[in-house]
Amino acid sequence: MPMLRRSSRKFGLMVTILVLAACTKSTPAASTSADTPIAQGSKEQVLAGRQLVVNHDCGGCHGGGANPAATGWLAGVRSPDQEFHIGACSFANPTAKPCFITRPRNLTPDNTTGLGRFTERQIFNALRFGLRPEDTPDVDITSTTPGQGNFPATPHFLAPPMPWPSWRHMSDQELQAIAAYLKRGLAPSSNKVAESEGPPDFWAGAYADSVIGPRPVRPFPTVNERVP
Ligand code: HEC
Repeated sequence: MPMLRRSSRKFGLMVTILVLAACTKSTPAASTSADTPIAQGSKEQVLAGRQLVVNHDCGGCHGGGANPAATGWLAGVRSPDQEFHIGACSFANPTAKPCFITRPRNLTPDNTTGLGRFTERQIFNALRFGLRPEDTPDVDITSTTPGQGNFPATPHFLAPPMPWPSWRHMSDQELQAIAAYLKRGLAPSSNKVAESEGPPDFWAGAYADSVIGPRPVRPFPTVNERVP
């Protein structure tokens, strides 16, 4: 994970949560992690997505914390203190290079400034593969090899610290529920977030499988684990 600055304590806590999330067993579509059948677009699906959004701290970066009633809930950066500084400048010297300012975006379904113009599949692909919805076609992706299985030949990844490398291990139905909540369960809120800065390769070097680990994760127990 590239170096970053801003509320590092909270970020550490979040990483712990993400590791727990990554341990959630993947189950086939048509059931939640609790094995309850759930229909696409249903209120149950939207509420499942809401729960995942709250307990995965989406609002910690995208606005509103863990409180869906808060002003600016998931509406994206509204002040510079919600931005992240990625790179050498995240340490003691704020003018050190490289330095990229990245900005959690507006996740509400507003058509011009939020996710309104993207499909639930594009949001799913952002969470599973880290692909920017704006630059990635609305297709089913079946590979992580560039140019194969609809994975873009030149992928444009979301800027850090968006934690998709951990969330790509969540099950299909969990990610679909999050997408359903964002598209169907939120009121649109107009808030234009400036583009994040980034390297020319759109973070491809930072997000190779050799860096972020394989998916699916290696079988239990790995060298760091033990059978209880
Ligand atoms: C640690 C901070 C952080 C957390 C937590 C976080 N995000 Fe993000 N997210 C970002 C940043 C930064 C971007 C902007 C990336 C860019 O501009 O390339 C982003 C971008 C996105 C995008 C792409 C939006 C677009 O218009 O391109 C989606 C979708 C998204 N996040 C969903 C989520 C969801 C859902 C959660 C919770 C499950 C979440 N994020 C939690 C930091 C975060």
